[in-house]
Amino acid sequence: MSDLYATIVVPCRHEEGNVGPLLDRIKTAMNGHPYEVLFVDDSDNDATVQAIRAADPNALVFHRMGEQRWGGLAGAVIDGLRMAHSDRVVVMDADLQHPPEVVPALLSTLDGGAELVMASRYTDGGDPGGLSGPFRRLVSGASTWLAKATFPIRLRGVTDPMTGFFGLRRSAVDAGTLHSRGFKILLEILARYPRLRRAEVPLRFDKRLSGDSKGDARQGLEYLKQLPRLRVATTPLRYFATARFRDFAIGGAVVAAAGVVLLEALVRTGMDPLAAFGVQLAVTLALNFSYNYLVTWRDRVRAGLARRISWFLATRGATQFLSWLLFAGLSAAVGLHHQVANGVCLVMAAAVNYYVTDKVVFTAGAASARGRRVARWLVAGAAALGIGAALYAAHLPAPTVLAASLLAVALFNTAIGALEVRWRLYGWRTRRRSSGCAGRRPTARRGSGSR
Ligand code: GDD
Ligand code: MN
Repeated sequence: MSDLYATIVVPCRHEEGNVGPLLDRIKTAMNGHPYEVLFVDDSDNDATVQAIRAADPNALVFHRMGEQRWGGLAGAVIDGLRMAHSDRVVVMDADLQHPPEVVPALLSTLDGGAELVMASRYTDGGDPGGLSGPFRRLVSGASTWLAKATFPIRLRGVTDPMTGFFGLRRSAVDAGTLHSRGFKILLEILARYPRLRRAEVPLRFDKRLSGDSKGDARQGLEYLKQLPRLRVATTPLRYFATARFRDFAIGGAVVAAAGVVLLEALVRTGMDPLAAFGVQLAVTLALNFSYNYLVTWRDRVRAGLARRISWFLATRGATQFLSWLLFAGLSAAVGLHHQVANGVCLVMAAAVNYYVTDKVVFTAGAASARGRRVARWLVAGAAALGIGAALYAAHLPAPTVLAASLLAVALFNTAIGALEVRWRLYGWRTRRRSSGCAGRRPTARRGSGSR
């Protein structure tokens, strides 16, 4: 298949009257270039498959049955992208509303360096003429406008984000990241891959050759549902638009409120406020850890409790300390009201705590490399800032303060790094069991889960 020039993916459903003429016109248009046509057929009977076989026995057909038939038209296109043998793929409808004569222009635009090329009805030289009736035109215009309003930046310069006729470098997208249902597969590609090099060619949209359109009110509804979902899924803050973050935030707020009540109660029973604060801190940390262990990340954790607790305490300590510094900076240096500064600190701490808890504390196996790096710098940075602040308060000269802080970061990072190597080689338990000669007897390597 290495000399294959292109794969033409055709999603179809009950198009027996169209596939023959379509194959003929594709053949003429391709003018001798080696290509394959891959139909992804969702028909409820064999008529379309038979019509394809009769017209061209070499055409590939994936007749999706039952469970396989996910996502309708968009799912069919995604399956087609997965199964295509060429890196150059053209997606087009079966009903000849997309003239095959445009295919060579799409392919040569890909060869010119574009990764995505759209056949547009709304660019110079294009024509939506084949849309049946003024109502379809209105719907088409409104849905295009809505898409552009929802993704003003990602769709800049795209005149027809609803077109079902486009060329794509398969290697430029990962079909596994696409989930759309219904009719708007191109929109999802545009939204999820905003950095694709893209281009347009004009499309004179024809009338359907035979049969009826499958676009109906249900597709319109599906589109309206898909749009906000796609917006959330592609926003930079999607990390925090999850049920997990919601659980985390609710639990954190409840525990913090419980801490306030506890502190008040202890002080009223006559306990020294400083001691009461210590008790309150210990209780809320324990509650937070348990809640996140049992609820927020319940799907993840079982093994490695000691390691998780130590990372939890280290990273929480670091964010507490950074909050304190941020508060000092915001209220003293910037002059913010103390409650406003406190609010900013809370938001920062919630975001950082959530991230490191997700990536380091309650991971499925070992922490992700990136999360570990973030956590390590978080703790090292907090320690260094703390040492720096203390020395500065003791009126040491600035260069000494700076040098001591940098040294603290370096030492801390080295120490954590060494500890991590221990964990990965021997696990946590081994060390406890052979506490007398820690590290000398390399027993049981941790399984693959710790890699
Ligand atoms: N596999 C599969 N499964 N194919 C489907 C399905 C499905 O559930 N529904 C429709 N198709 C196929 C049709 O057989 C046809 O080849 C193509 O997808 C487009 O369907 P039409 O029913 O002809 O839709 P349309 O003409 O209303 O919509 C076209 O124009 C829209 C813009 O106006 C499509 O190209 C849309 O993607 C496009 O947004
Ligand atoms: Mn059509």
